[in-house]
Amino acid sequence: MASILVTGGAGFLGSFICEKLLAMGHQVVAYDMSNGEKIEHLIDKPGFRFVQDSILNFSSMEREIDRADIVVHFAAIADPKRYVQEPLVTMEIDLQGALNVFKLASKKKAKVCFASTSEIYGKNPAIPWKEDAERVLGSTHINRWCYGTAKAAAEHYCYAYAHQEGMPFVIYRFFNVYGPRLDDLGSGRVLPIFLKQCLHDEPITIHGDGLQTRTLVYIEDAVDCVVRAIFNEKAVGQAFNIGTSQELSMKDLALKLKEVGGFKSEIVYVPHKEVFGASYEDVPRRVPDVSKAKKLLGWEATTTLEEGLKKTIAYYKEQIANR
Ligand SMILES: NC(=O)c1ccc[n+]([C@@H]2O[C@H](COP(=O)([O-])OP(=O)(O)OC[C@H]3O[C@@H](n4cnc5c(N)ncnc54)[C@H](O)[C@@H]3O)[C@@H](O)[C@H]2O)c1
Repeated sequence: MASILVTGGAGFLGSFICEKLLAMGHQVVAYDMSNGEKIEHLIDKPGFRFVQDSILNFSSMEREIDRADIVVHFAAIADPKRYVQEPLVTMEIDLQGALNVFKLASKKKAKVCFASTSEIYGKNPAIPWKEDAERVLGSTHINRWCYGTAKAAAEHYCYAYAHQEGMPFVIYRFFNVYGPRLDDLGSGRVLPIFLKQCLHDEPITIHGDGLQTRTLVYIEDAVDCVVRAIFNEKAVGQAFNIGTSQELSMKDLALKLKEVGGFKSEIVYVPHKEVFGASYEDVPRRVPDVSKAKKLLGWEATTTLEEGLKKTIAYYKEQIANR
C-alpha cells in the first residue's frame, strides 16, 4: 500500500484516478483548488483525504509531498479557451506549479507521474507521432502554444531532475480523453461543446472547416494506462502516448454524436478567429503511435467510440435531469 498524492485530484482525470487507487487499497490525497464536486462521493471513504488548495502554495505542497511516496501531478489549466484568454495564469500553474511539485518530490525521493499532453508535438505533419517525434510549434505571439510549451518545459524538468537528482518519473501524453465528468457542458473542450448543443437542440458549431482530426480515448481506458504505469518499474523514466489510432475529423465526430445520441442538431461552421480571437492556430491532424504503451505496459484502449459516447451522453443527460 502506498501514500499517493494526486494534484488535480478533483478534476476529470484526477477524480477517476483517485477512485481507482482507493479501490486498490492505497492511501490517497486529492489536492485541488476546486470545490471538490467531482469527488464528493469519495470524501467519506477510508484512506481518502481532500486538500483544497493551490499547487502554487509552496508550503502547503511541501506538507503534502513530505507524506507521499508517489505524486500523481495532474493539476493544470487544460481548457483551450482559458489558455488562449489567460496565458499568464496558464503558464504559471502549468509550469511554475509543476516545478514546485518536482522540486519537492525530488527532495523527498518520491516518484512523479506527470500529466503532459499531445499538444507538445504541436503541428508536426509526420503522423502518427511516436514518443520521440519532433515538436513543431508555432510562433510565441500565438497564445495557443503557451500550454504545450509550458507542458514541454515541465517535461524537460522531469528529465533534468531524473538526470541530476535521480528523481523517478513517468510522463503521460494524453490525446483527447473523454467521458463522464469531463467538464461542464459548453466548456472549451470539443465534446462538452458539441454535447451541450445536441442536448439543447441547438446547432453544433464546428470551429474551422471540420476537417481537422483528433483521436479520442475513453476515460476508463486512459486511467487504466495511468495506473499501470504508476506501478510498473519499466515505465520509470519514460513518456507514453495515451490515445487510440482511430483518426476522426471533427465533422465526423459531430455526425457520430448525432447518430449515437439520436440528436437532430444541424451542423454549422464558425471561423476559429470568431471563437478564440487572433491568438489561435489549429492543429490539422493529431494521431498518436500507441505501440510503446502496448509493448511496455501491455495496455491498449478497448472501449469503442460508440460505447464511450453512449456512456458519456447518458451521464450528461442524468446531470441535466437532476438539476
Ligand atoms: N483530458 C484530456 O484530454 C487531457 C489531454 C491532455 C492533457 N491533459 C492533462 O491531464 C491533466 C488533467 O486534465 P483534466 O482533463 O482532468 O482537466 P481538469 O481541468 O478536469 O483537471 C485539472 C484540475 O486541476 C485543478 N487545478 C488547476 N489549477 C490548479 C492549481 N493552481 N492548484 C490546484 N489545482 C489546480 C483544477 O481545479 C482541476 O480540477 C492536466 O494536467 C491536463 O493538462 C488532459
